[in-house]
Amino acid sequence: MKIAAGESVAFVGRSGAGKTTALRLVNGLVVPTRGEVLIDDVPLARTDLVALRRRTGYIIQGSGLFPHQTVFDNIATIPRLLEWDEGRTRERIADVMMRIAMPVEKFGARYPRSLSGGEQQRVGIARAIVANPSILLCDEPFGALDPIVRRELQDAFRALRSDATIVFVTHDLVEAMRVCERIVLFDQGRIVSDSPSSAFPNQSLQLVREFVAAASLPS
Ligand SMILES: Nc1ncnc2c1ncn2[C@@H]1O[C@H](COP(=O)(O)OP(=O)(O)OP(=O)(O)O)[C@@H](O)[C@H]1O
Ligand SMILES: [Mg+2]
Repeated sequence: MKIAAGESVAFVGRSGAGKTTALRLVNGLVVPTRGEVLIDDVPLARTDLVALRRRTGYIIQGSGLFPHQTVFDNIATIPRLLEWDEGRTRERIADVMMRIAMPVEKFGARYPRSLSGGEQQRVGIARAIVANPSILLCDEPFGALDPIVRRELQDAFRALRSDATIVFVTHDLVEAMRVCERIVLFDQGRIVSDSPSSAFPNQSLQLVREFVAAASLPS
């Protein structure tokens, strides 16, 4: 499959269909036994993976925050690797934290263990997008959130993504349609459907019908 620069693609499919594996192929966490991954037309095998990961935001369920660092320092990880000056880092972090509704004055000095699961998840999102990555890989990023916060963060995420290329794994068809412009359906390691989000529910494929029936799509 090809993903254009700036495109947002959701990977959906049953548990075990191969969504996470496909996502991890993109930044080299999984190496393909056959075939090839190209980023900007360059095979991953010839790409500097450290440089690639610095311009890739990675959001996983459970946030993956560094437990011994404050919220501020967690979010500052990539800006510091990129050697932003401290003023720019502070300004950007204050802005991003405001948009996830966790003002830096209140939450910046806290440690991950003193945050709720949903708050940790939000910090994970802030950390991933703070340095305007060109690629955003998201594996069920809003899975642990209550429905209202989830909805708010989907909107915040859309506003914060700027022009990143997004691959977004989710079980939630409504979320896939809200966040992404294209939906790819996996089944047993294969792509069985690939369509614009708005056209996804109209397909006659049995597995699509099952996904649509299980989701409560807004009419
Ligand atoms: N390193 C590995 N070695 C062998 N098999 C693996 C490996 N990683 C994943 N698998 C298998 O590949 C299949 C796809 O796994 P994957 O994690 O991609 O599924 P998924 O679509 O993300 O599922 P879920 O929705 O449950 O997260 C599963 O059957 C899994 O057991
Ligand atoms: Mg998975």
